[in-house]
Amino acid sequence: MSHVLITGAARGIGLELCRLYAKRGDTVLAVCRGVSPELASLGVTVLEGVELTHQSDVINLAAALRGRSIDLAILNAGVLSVESFGDLEKEVSVFLVHPGYVQTDMTGGRGDSTPAESAERIARLLDRLGPSDSGTFWHANGTPLPW
Ligand SMILES: NC(=O)c1ccc[n+]([C@@H]2O[C@H](COP(=O)([O-])OP(=O)(O)OC[C@H]3O[C@@H](n4cnc5c(N)ncnc54)[C@H](OP(=O)(O)O)[C@@H]3O)[C@@H](O)[C@H]2O)c1
Repeated sequence: MSHVLITGAARGIGLELCRLYAKRGDTVLAVCRGVSPELASLGVTVLEGVELTHQSDVINLAAALRGRSIDLAILNAGVLSVESFGDLEKEVSVFLVHPGYVQTDMTGGRGDSTPAESAERIARLLDRLGPSDSGTFWHANGTPLPW
């Protein structure tokens, strides 16, 4: 069982990632500005009231995470600096993942995959990436992307 932190968890791809990892039996820490009914129904741990462009919220989030072990952090909304996580006790691998063209509010419902399909692809990709892949950029379909 892993401890998985996911930002932008209230809807779209982030919500489906929360659903997927919770279904797998992982411990999900869902970070959001406000809890949606769909997120609330998952029964995962929710850290709400986090506007990622507000430094004070990020500092509060870091404080709330202190002492918690996190195996996987999916920064699906915005970017958290490494410092936001406080003292890191292990080496961290970092990957950039393009989710594909996904039918969410962001695209006005257009796209060639559903949020659930995209979440499935992202999780499958993350399952096979390891420390030697750190610093690489991928499409969720498993194709490495140049950058
Ligand atoms: N959909 C696509 O085709 C596509 C393509 C390329 C990249 N992406 C990227 O994939 C990620 C997820 O996209 P999506 O399509 O799932 O988007 P979405 O349906 O619009 O959902 C975005 C989520 O991020 C949260 N969020 C946005 N800005 C935030 C902020 N400043 N602080 C805290 N939370 C914030 C939103 O919170 P609220 O619910 O509170 O508004 C919402 O839950 C984004 O980074 C997006 O750029 C998506």
